[in-house]
Amino acid sequence: MQTLFITGGAGFIGSALVRLLITESDWRIVNLDKLTYAGNLESLADLIDHPRHIFRRTDICERAALDALFAELQPAGVIHLAAESHVDRSIHGPGAFIHTNITGTFTLLEATRGYWMTLDSAAQTAFRFHHVSTDEVYGSLGDTGLFTETTPYAPNSPYSASKAASDHLVRAWHHTYGLPVVTTNCSNNYGACQFPEKLIPLMIHNALSGKPLPIYGKGDNVRDWLHVDDHARALWRVFEQGRVGEVYNIGGHNEKTNLEVVDTLCALLDELQPRADGQPYATLKTTVADRPGHDKRYAIDASKIADELGWQPQETFETGLRKTVRWYLDNPEWVAHVVSGEYQHWIERHYSA
Ligand code: NAD
Ligand code: TYD
Repeated sequence: MQTLFITGGAGFIGSALVRLLITESDWRIVNLDKLTYAGNLESLADLIDHPRHIFRRTDICERAALDALFAELQPAGVIHLAAESHVDRSIHGPGAFIHTNITGTFTLLEATRGYWMTLDSAAQTAFRFHHVSTDEVYGSLGDTGLFTETTPYAPNSPYSASKAASDHLVRAWHHTYGLPVVTTNCSNNYGACQFPEKLIPLMIHNALSGKPLPIYGKGDNVRDWLHVDDHARALWRVFEQGRVGEVYNIGGHNEKTNLEVVDTLCALLDELQPRADGQPYATLKTTVADRPGHDKRYAIDASKIADELGWQPQETFETGLRKTVRWYLDNPEWVAHVVSGEYQHWIERHYSA
């Protein structure tokens, strides 16, 4: 059985990837996660004791801990998702983003390289370090155009600048040391188990709580939305079949303004769980001050991953968003535990790692 390290496997995308690989691959998954505020093992509650899932609470900035895990568990690859991921938090406190996203990626690359050099040449060739990144490294688009893999980097927020730096480190570790890397840059994800600080789960949570729905600026910023399960399937395709040293953009062909997203969410909630007072949820929409440096538009040209690796998203925005709203309605305790902070004690009550 082959072993895969997944960093950030208790986060939103990481937990979807762990779930995909436990159900649809025969790999042993070692989930390395520090469990920051964004890490939530409750998202993997049904898989936590699975014989092919090993959770190790680990900080990617701690080299000695990483070295010990590589020596003990001998992975055939790493998929690196651990990061600080929220743009607004990066504006208020960039330090953690520099530390985890840049120093953490550097430390993980060095630990990986140290282990990789101990492998025989066949195992070295087969090894993959897959770096998971964002389209935000390319900066902001005007009304037209798409990000391709050759779009020049122009990150605008502390978050995207820290991710851009990590992308450059990964590229350099390939060119200088020969580490077999692949990098993916994906558009905005949505789906189950997303921390309710990001647009879609925040709006669902606020709407169901009767709170205002805060729309930054005019609400005309555009994001290109991808369902998290489509992203997870794309990551696995690139890990297994992507060409070493290459970059693949991942996107869902779902450009929407923020207002369109919020209006669609409100309409879905009106249908699936109407308000007790009979008012439409859209009456909760509130315009608030814009985010500083707010990128206007992101949109992905995903033709490289489609043409080379045959990946296509399976969800449309309509099917994916309906599933997502349904999930939040069906799992109120997941959200309640996040809001109360109880999720951070889940590990002590349920797991001894
Ligand atoms: P998330 O914030 O939900 O999860 C991040 C995970 O990393 C958490 O479980 C957290 O505990 C863990 N972590 C943070 N610091 C750590 C450290 N020092 N050591 C070990 N673990 C640590 O993020 P997400 O939305 O799941 O994003 C995952 C990755 O995908 C990130 O690298 C992000 O940049 C990238 N990405 C996200 C999106 C998106 O829309 N969410 C889009 C494109 C790319
Ligand atoms: P977000 O989910 O934070 O992702 P990102 O900033 O990485 O794209 O935000 C998505 C869009 O929604 C972005 O244009 C900012 C906007 N937004 C709001 O209008 N109100 C909110 O409360 C939040 C969290 C985001």
